[in-house]
Amino acid sequence: MNASVIRSRYLAFFRERGHKEIPSAPLVPENDPTTLFTSSGMQPLVPYLLGQPHPLGKRLVNSQKCVRFQDIDEVGDNRHTTFFEMLGNWSLGDYFKRDQLPWIFTFLTQEIGLDPRRLYVTVFEGDASVSKDTESIAIWKELFASVGIDAKEGERIFAYPAKKNWWSRAGEPQYMPPGEPGGPDSEVFFDFGEHRRLHEQSLWNDQPCHPNCDCGRFMEIGNSVFMQYQKKADGSIQELPQKNVDFGGGLERIAAAANDNPDVFLIDLFSPMISILEQCSRTSYGQNQEPTKSMRIIADHLRALIMMIVDGVLPSNKHQGYALRRLIRRSLLHAKILRIADMTYLSEITEQVVDAYRDPYPSIVECRQTIIDTLHEESTRFAKTLERGMKEIESADVIDGKLAFHLYESFGFPWEMTVEIASNRGQTIDRKQFEDEFRKHQELSRTASAGMFKGGLVDHSEETTRLHTAHHLFLAALQKIVDPSIRQRGSNITAERLRIDVNLQRPLTEEDRHRVEELVNKKIREGLPVIRVDMEKKEAEKIGAQMEFGKKYPDRVSVYFIGSQDNFFSAEFCGGPHVNNTSEIANEGQVFKIFKEEAIGHGVRRFKAGIVSVV
Ligand code: ALA
Repeated sequence: MNASVIRSRYLAFFRERGHKEIPSAPLVPENDPTTLFTSSGMQPLVPYLLGQPHPLGKRLVNSQKCVRFQDIDEVGDNRHTTFFEMLGNWSLGDYFKRDQLPWIFTFLTQEIGLDPRRLYVTVFEGDASVSKDTESIAIWKELFASVGIDAKEGERIFAYPAKKNWWSRAGEPQYMPPGEPGGPDSEVFFDFGEHRRLHEQSLWNDQPCHPNCDCGRFMEIGNSVFMQYQKKADGSIQELPQKNVDFGGGLERIAAAANDNPDVFLIDLFSPMISILEQCSRTSYGQNQEPTKSMRIIADHLRALIMMIVDGVLPSNKHQGYALRRLIRRSLLHAKILRIADMTYLSEITEQVVDAYRDPYPSIVECRQTIIDTLHEESTRFAKTLERGMKEIESADVIDGKLAFHLYESFGFPWEMTVEIASNRGQTIDRKQFEDEFRKHQELSRTASAGMFKGGLVDHSEETTRLHTAHHLFLAALQKIVDPSIRQRGSNITAERLRIDVNLQRPLTEEDRHRVEELVNKKIREGLPVIRVDMEKKEAEKIGAQMEFGKKYPDRVSVYFIGSQDNFFSAEFCGGPHVNNTSEIANEGQVFKIFKEEAIGHGVRRFKAGIVSVV
């Protein structure tokens, strides 16, 4: 069964059960500088999981594009990918375990046709604050019994501690920042069979294996999170006012289970890419470990970076742009390892990815040429960087593990490539030294990203909320003073400042800048109400509500009006959060001010602005 059939059956299955389909949010999260990429379906839905009503109701379904960049070093095995699609269904304070688990079971066994004897499930074993999930155990027993399977705990149903069966964006309860929602979860694993067990890789190779033992036999294909708790400022875990369900199923992994082959690179979304790579490298996939790994890395990275470019990321040395550049460079290096000299594979693979995703994500078609141009420009640029790396190698007397790591980190030389070069000079490199350096670096970046995360993913702080509303006033003021055709191209808000990208060919004049600031400050002083109204997208478009250029919105949207619904200063499609009245944006003695303005290319200008004290 191919992935697009699985995707559409999943969406239809939940639509038939009263769910409204929402579009995939962009890969780069909006107004959330604390994380580089959207990495789960629930991320854009946090305000609704916390209680804000969603314009489409209490039952939602989608397929969300995700990137988990932290998995980059695992890519090359049979199942890790940086980009993946997460099939998601949500109950926002509506149904709970009694509906969710039977639906997932029915979907997997009847719609996809997985043999229930090949499914194994896990639940939360309980801790000091939340008790064992005996309700899910009872439901699973009934479900398996309905197909003639006697599902015993410890044989088919397994209970694990929070490390495995508690889900929040920060992981276990002790790592959740205050305000973060989370809860116990119940995962479904597919059994690929005892013969798939990679004995040498399992920590448990002397013991009977079990779903979480990572020996290669079981693969997690879906996770129902019972998101009913929230971390409080005092460190306790308390019930949320509503009990939610947050399901995430890996589309590629479900397709691998449907193929009964644990190699996700053999599903239809990847296999044409692998064939192109086989042809241009004249190497067979699956025969030898290293070339197979290189082909997987190229296929994964190219698909991920194409999806990033479609969502507006371009190569740079910072943030998402840097992640994109790393993916391009790693894929080019692995092409070198495979001795692929002809760069036409880049366009061929792009065409293939465009074809595979044109139905679910039509904007990919318009980006085709940008993708191809970006790949070619970057490969020329990278050839120069490689030359510099090669010079460093040539000037070194010994290629040791430390130098190998420096080359990996600074120039993107993979270990395998440095080892090739070293062997030509008759040298061997200490792998342990390389790995020690690698580990040190990984720990540092993990700490950095954990710190970043603790900033709070959905920032509902007072400062950020005020700047969200100031952002709407600012856009409206730019349109009224500078040019009515100005549209938002991107935005990002932290507690310190707001950032907005708009289409504008020229810098603001001093006078424009002054008048825009004045108008925003006037609207703050007027104390206008900020009102949220849920309405049909068509109706919102008709009244001229602003939306971000190029972004996909569902059929029903929330619109924030500043002023009144009939006589508004600003109306924008938005999920919030916002202040209730513009007077809350600035305290006594504070004003709105533009901090910075710059061109970021192609007729787009970026403004940073915020609230400052004038006394
Ligand atoms: N939010 C859950 C996950 O990402 C479903 O696994």
